[in-house]
Amino acid sequence: MPAAKIAPSMLSSDFANLASEAQRMLTFGADWLHMDIMIKIDLQDGHFVPNLTIGAPVIESLRKHTKAYLDCHLMVTNPLDYVEVFGKAGASGFTFHVEVSKGRNIMFTPLILNELGLDFRSLMVRETPADNWQELVKQIKSKGMRPGVALKPGTPIEEVYPLLDGENPVEMVLVMTVEPGFGGQKFMPDMMDKVRTLREKYPKLDIELLNDISHLPSPNSYAVTSTPFSHCAKLMPMVFDWGLQVDGGLGPSTIEAAAAAGANCIVAGSSVFGAAEPAKKI
Ligand code: DX5
Ligand code: ZN
Repeated sequence: MPAAKIAPSMLSSDFANLASEAQRMLTFGADWLHMDIMIKIDLQDGHFVPNLTIGAPVIESLRKHTKAYLDCHLMVTNPLDYVEVFGKAGASGFTFHVEVSKGRNIMFTPLILNELGLDFRSLMVRETPADNWQELVKQIKSKGMRPGVALKPGTPIEEVYPLLDGENPVEMVLVMTVEPGFGGQKFMPDMMDKVRTLREKYPKLDIELLNDISHLPSPNSYAVTSTPFSHCAKLMPMVFDWGLQVDGGLGPSTIEAAAAAGANCIVAGSSVFGAAEPAKKI
């Protein structure tokens, strides 16, 4: 298996200098740029995580400055609503959360509902039934992005199986190793069981994605902005041995455990951006 991809989480960057921060990371040897999307457009979103970060306009702006793989992690309750706009903005990967299918994410806080005199259990996010995953994944692919599915620490790994076994499988699983929402939290080693289980169950996940790569440019140069993104999407499965991403609390003291469990894409925010010499950390 080739070396793991390192994806610095731009959540820890200086957002006021995003383009130069991105360039800095790529120069230091980053493979991908991990973009944490936490948005609130209306009452149906913004509650998946208790934070707000960036949306499609920022991706669109950044895309004008870089050819890099923009690995977008969407912590939103209604991912389907964002597929088109992120595709247009130039996102490379579109990773959504599996929990959004279960109505576990409440649209309104219990406090607001109390004030409205409503029972919060009756007001859950609209359902994304299992058979709609297919549609979501299809749409993501049709916009030239790579579909991925993320799961929170409390979500059993079995919940992503239908997304890997179906007709339109996702191409990456993101195992959260902290509660999503903020950078700088402590890595949860227990999550490595999920990574191991997944790697054991899907040993060929990457192999199936690999093809003859001899005629392709090096992984760092595939995402040419003058090329339509759908074209990049066709190239990428052949270039990358990927599939299993970990996110949260990753750094020199935790990366070994993640890699040993079978992760091959490492997201790292505070450990990279907080380092005196980020290039060395990467
Ligand atoms: C948390 C985000 C992570 C986070 C990682 O919701 O998904 O990408 O920024 O940051 P560190 O590496 O600092 O835990
Ligand atoms: Zn993330």
